[in-house]
Amino acid sequence: MPRTNEIIRKQDLEGSESQLVEDLLAKPDIHQRWIETYYNDENEAFCEQEFDYVTKILNAPKDSVILDAGCGDCTHSIRLAKRGFFVQAVDCSEAVLQLAEENVKARGSQERIHIQHGNLLGLPFEDGAFNYALCCGVLMHIPDLEKALSKLARVLRSGGRLVVSEANMYSLEAVVCRTLRRFLKRGRAVMKETPAGLEYWTTDSAGTLLTRQANMRWLIEGFRSLGFALQKRLAGQFTELYTRISSRSLKKVLFAFNNFWFIHVKIPVGALGNILILEKR
Ligand SMILES: C[S@@+](CC[C@H](N)C(=O)[O-])C[C@H]1O[C@@H](n2cnc3c(N)ncnc32)[C@H](O)[C@@H]1O
Repeated sequence: MPRTNEIIRKQDLEGSESQLVEDLLAKPDIHQRWIETYYNDENEAFCEQEFDYVTKILNAPKDSVILDAGCGDCTHSIRLAKRGFFVQAVDCSEAVLQLAEENVKARGSQERIHIQHGNLLGLPFEDGAFNYALCCGVLMHIPDLEKALSKLARVLRSGGRLVVSEANMYSLEAVVCRTLRRFLKRGRAVMKETPAGLEYWTTDSAGTLLTRQANMRWLIEGFRSLGFALQKRLAGQFTELYTRISSRSLKKVLFAFNNFWFIHVKIPVGALGNILILEKR
């Protein structure tokens, strides 16, 4: 791998990128880490109001089937099931699907959620199989982003709606952290600049992970070229800095600020979390 903290060109990392990431996702460790980091009481309250808002905009009839593409442990599938929808959950990691099965059973949502193994780069569904799809924090981990977008587009019916949640590379948090990294010449990740956004490649004993901060304009354009129209761009969480600090009181302040931004300010541009609601023409 190239030197840490080095900006490198796309072709330097080309080749086995998808395989590297899929090898890591195949193990339970990374999923456990995500669950511990993101699914806590404070985040739960935020996500619930986020899902209330998004499902209101989506305006899907009760009992509609929603594809949860990259479902992880099905936490969001369960939120959709509790709001009266059926969910087709799919993920490329058998390890996380085992956690998902347990989670869905424990929350009594088996009747509404069907879990299937599958890769976004070759979804095991017919063309136009879904009217609604959700893809939350998934595209950021897929090296072949253009292929993933076109495969998602394929399984949506014309008139269908897609909700995508990604990290915004021009958010305040992303810009400040990037500047500090450059200034202090520190950071574990290899950063790679691409038109789709900034890719951070981290390698540890468990394997290699890609986390992309998206160029939201590129992403919207990418979907547009596949026949989608942007209906709404929303702010998700303004910051995820709470994942990097241990002080409980500071975490509380950040959660309160995230709530304030989501409810009152709503502007997506400065926020790290961005939600796109797209309609396929
Ligand atoms: C950060 S987790 C998000 C999980 C869930 N969407 C959520 O928001 O809680 C990313 C998920 O995407 C899945 N994933 C990544 N690449 C994928 C691919 N090519 N096909 C299907 N799932 C993928 C991972 O296995 C993981 O479960």
